[in-house]
Amino acid sequence: MSRVGRARVEGGGYEIVPMSAHDLLEVVEIEETTGLSRWGWDSYHAELVRPEAIMLVARRARADATGKFLKGFFAARLGADELHINNIGVRERERRKGIACELLRRGLLLGIERGAHAALLEVRAGNVAAQSLYASQGFEVVGRRRNYYHDPAEDALVMSKQLRAET
Ligand SMILES: CC(C)(COP(=O)(O)OP(=O)(O)OC[C@H]1O[C@@H](n2cnc3c(N)ncnc32)[C@H](O)[C@@H]1OP(=O)(O)O)[C@@H](O)C(=O)NCCC(=O)NCCS
Repeated sequence: MSRVGRARVEGGGYEIVPMSAHDLLEVVEIEETTGLSRWGWDSYHAELVRPEAIMLVARRARADATGKFLKGFFAARLGADELHINNIGVRERERRKGIACELLRRGLLLGIERGAHAALLEVRAGNVAAQSLYASQGFEVVGRRRNYYHDPAEDALVMSKQLRAET
């Protein structure tokens, strides 16, 4: 396994580890409860076996009081030398604890290890939380795609970051 593919987050009570098929029910549940564009179980399952996919979860060693192991997840795909971030989501009760930041940081490191020179993503123009997260990690707005999203219709901001070895 990669040097940065598995990491315990000190004091956080969880590890960042590669997503497995066992995680998918919780990943889909998080997706459905966080307002993310729906991929669903089948799409995540198909994505998991793609060699160019980088998919991570923030997983507790033991289930919480509600029987859940996952705090959040990250899904990205490498294309040529660019890492495209598709989804990142954190359970509502686990937010503002640095979990998304940690998932993003590990995902970018894995991307760099595998040759990515830049990371790119689309985010809803009204999603201030996600834009702030990405900006805090050095992403900048580089474009806007009109009516990119449906249900509800909304523009996407395109954000990108050049990746360097010290990320
Ligand atoms: C966006 C999201 C992933 C952030 O997860 P998180 O674990 O709470 O984020 P972190 O705790 O790592 O926050 C890191 C930084 O991002 C910014 N940030 C995160 N949430 C924010 C919010 N609600 N408002 C403003 N800034 C925010 C802050 O700069 C924060 O640092 P700080 O807490 O020291 O101020 C989470 O809110 C979420 O799951 N949202 C729904 C799904 C979604 O929109 N995903 C993005 C799709 S592009």
